[in-house]
Parts: sequence; C-alpha cells; structure tokens
Amino acid sequence: MSRPIVEITHAEEFAAAHQLVAAHLSEEENRALYGPCFTRHGHNYVVEVVVRGPLDGPTGMVMDLNVLMRMMREELLEHVDHKDLNVDVPFLAGIVPTAENLAIAFWERLAPRLAQVEGCQLARVGVIESRANRADYCGQNS
Ligand code: NI
Repeated sequence: MSRPIVEITHAEEFAAAHQLVAAHLSEEENRALYGPCFTRHGHNYVVEVVVRGPLDGPTGMVMDLNVLMRMMREELLEHVDHKDLNVDVPFLAGIVPTAENLAIAFWERLAPRLAQVEGCQLARVGVIESRANRADYCGQNS
C-alpha cells in the first residue's frame, strides 16, 4: 500500500535588524522606494519551513522533528538571530534583506539538508516579517 503524502510545518522565531537599500539607487531614490524601511530597524521574524514526504506508519511522522529543528538552528537561526542582516550574515552578503530574499536564501540552505532525509523534500519557506507582511518561496520549479 502506498504511503500517504503529508506536509508538516515547523516555525521558529528570530530577532534581527535590517535596512532596505538597493545599491543601484541614490539615497533619495532608496528613501522614496523603501520609505521607513530605508532606516535601520528590527523585526521579530518567524520562519516557517514546510516539508513534504510519505508518512512513516510505525512512527506516525513524516520526519523526526528534532532533526528538522536542528537543521533550522544550524542553517538559519545561529546565523541570523540577533544579527544585523545587512552586515553580519555571509550568506546574505550583497542582497537586499527583504522577506522575499530571506525566503530564497533560507531555501537554498535548507533544501540540500532536507534532500538527505529519505523521501522528504522542502516544500515551502515562509518568512513572516510582521502581521502585515510575509513572503513565501517554493523553489524554482513551482
Ligand atoms: Ni523591515
């Protein structure tokens, strides 16, 4: 019998500072484009990771949540929590730290790790910046 495919979501929080500034624009143009986000400020972010895979009957799980939490800690949280996203995080160097770009950068770090878990794949990374704003990335193929 084929195993049901299930998506699980795990969310973690981190606090970080950022400033939205595009290198190709003048200070005046950046201020007009990004408004208050051109000024350095902080967010209490939530990152949601969705993993899709076949349910393991005996355990009733798609994957070991402790393993997923460790991957998120090692690949994401240890690098971004209480950091300045514009200057402190090598894997964000040279990109504007919008929620969109964070979701893509986090995907690139997590996807290879999750590919090592039998049958599982990364389905979505969501970055929630505030109650009003979030960005979701589901990989290049979707
Ligand atoms: Ni912001």
